[in-house]
Amino acid sequence: MTAHDGPARYGHLYCNSPIADWRFDRQVAECAAFAPQTILDIGCGWGELIQRVTERVPGARAVGIDSDVELLERGRAGAVRRGIADRLEFVEYRGEDWTEPADLVVCIGAAHAFGTGADAVGALAKLVKPGGRLLFGDGVWERVPTEAELAAMWPGTGAGDWLLLPDLVDAAVAVGLRPLRVESVERHEWDDFESAFLADKEVWLQANPGHARAAEVREQADAHRAWWLRGHRGLLGFAYLTLGRAVAL
Ligand SMILES: C[S@@+](CC[C@H](N)C(=O)[O-])C[C@H]1O[C@@H](n2cnc3c(N)ncnc32)[C@H](O)[C@@H]1O
Repeated sequence: MTAHDGPARYGHLYCNSPIADWRFDRQVAECAAFAPQTILDIGCGWGELIQRVTERVPGARAVGIDSDVELLERGRAGAVRRGIADRLEFVEYRGEDWTEPADLVVCIGAAHAFGTGADAVGALAKLVKPGGRLLFGDGVWERVPTEAELAAMWPGTGAGDWLLLPDLVDAAVAVGLRPLRVESVERHEWDDFESAFLADKEVWLQANPGHARAAEVREQADAHRAWWLRGHRGLLGFAYLTLGRAVAL
């Protein structure tokens, strides 16, 4: 989309989930050190994480799948730029329908494709080869939300949309995965993420106050900011679980 049409999409984000640079770098380093030969990212967006991991693991073959063709195109351009397009493929596909397992499975911010976080780890566990890993990222409640708090979030948000962190980890353990690392983001990581998400609209509005779409874009930005600052801030966390599946007996 050009500035003439409206704001960019995800122009201020290098990946599409709340995460500090140091944490992202550590995840890339740990995934690469694991040296997976096959990598699968479900709901990859433009797949910044698998781009960086694939680049670092010679011979690794990766596939990122997503339902958003525009984001997949950004991923393909990144793979070409990094010289790994022959090893990293971006495929338009529904995550819940994928059946080919991998050594490293990644699913960050896309659990809803499967249902709840517990549904997602159950389905994803089946895609992890014996001896493999799952890097799973999803929202977690910092505490059980009240009805009034839920009403201040996105329309339709329910208490069942996310789990508490210990319940999410227990759900992974219940399907045979073991937690190698459990981490949850600090509030500033959400703040940075939401600010960067909104920056596309705010920067565009600053430059295009008289545009035919300005009122609509301003309304969207104001609604999103309210869902964040009056809604989920301090209530919804985000957890990353690095989960291991035992080697075959
Ligand atoms: C919050 S974004 C996270 C993107 C990426 N994992 C990251 O961390 O940068 C969630 C992604 O899931 C994708 N998605 C949503 N439902 C999906 C589905 N049923 N199958 C595949 N991808 C899906 C969206 O298009 C979006 O790119």
